[in-house]
Amino acid sequence: MGDELPPIITWDDAWTIGVDEIDEHHHKLVEMLQRLFGALITAQGEDYIKEVFLELIDYTKYHFSREEEIFEEHGFEELEAHKELHQELVKQVLDFSQEIIAQGSSEEVSEEVYYFLRHWLADHIINEDLKFKAFLAGKA
Ligand SMILES: [Fe+2]
Ligand SMILES: [Fe+2]
Repeated sequence: MGDELPPIITWDDAWTIGVDEIDEHHHKLVEMLQRLFGALITAQGEDYIKEVFLELIDYTKYHFSREEEIFEEHGFEELEAHKELHQELVKQVLDFSQEIIAQGSSEEVSEEVYYFLRHWLADHIINEDLKFKAFLAGKA
């Protein structure tokens, strides 16, 4: 990832949950989104775009399953609702990847792509994952 690309998304310390494994995953996901944005705005070939999406989707699924296990271990009461949100996010990224691959990448990154990359993960961390931080604080 070259430094010359503008950041689509940057880590914000306010997103820290306080569980190292989850925070490391979130950092890595932010990096992967940045890499995907880089691949899209530099109009990389279809094979490369597919590869970057596949890595993102695989890692997202892995992260969600680990996060759910950790939430379960701590008896987080919103686990079931949170699992449904994860399923919806996986569906969104799958649909998005198919749409982008079908339309082919170009240096013209649409507003929709920009919006998706900025919000898909960040909104979930801010609005949902951080509830777990509050839950842990309440138990302490
Ligand atoms: Fe989550
Ligand atoms: Fe998460």
